[in-house]
Amino acid sequence: MVIKILCDMERETTLAEWHEAAASGDLADEQGLQVQKGRDRIYLCRSQGVAHAVEDRCSHGEAVFSESGRVRRGALLCLAHGARFDLASGRCLGAMRCPQLRRWHVREEDGVIFLGAEYPPG
Ligand code: FES
Repeated sequence: MVIKILCDMERETTLAEWHEAAASGDLADEQGLQVQKGRDRIYLCRSQGVAHAVEDRCSHGEAVFSESGRVRRGALLCLAHGARFDLASGRCLGAMRCPQLRRWHVREEDGVIFLGAEYPPG
């Protein structure tokens, strides 16, 4: 499922800028979907009741999480080669040494999930 967000093509720079990404009911626990914000394809997912947003591309290769990812207990598993990422930090877990995933702020309010600015790297 792809949901396009209507916003300009500029990268957000402040947390004051939030864009509606999905209805809360569209995102079941331990599931995810691709949303687009400007030029970025973002994997919006929910694990243990908390919504997260990371880039929809594995940092190990070119696998797309919305096609070959699995969300479980706060982590995102890439089914291509088995890399696992912590959803809260974007960091790779376990033995594989993959770059950190890009992440975006997420806010959920009154049945709507909003995407905010991208977190700085690190
Ligand atoms: S592309 Fe994701 S683990 Fe290799």
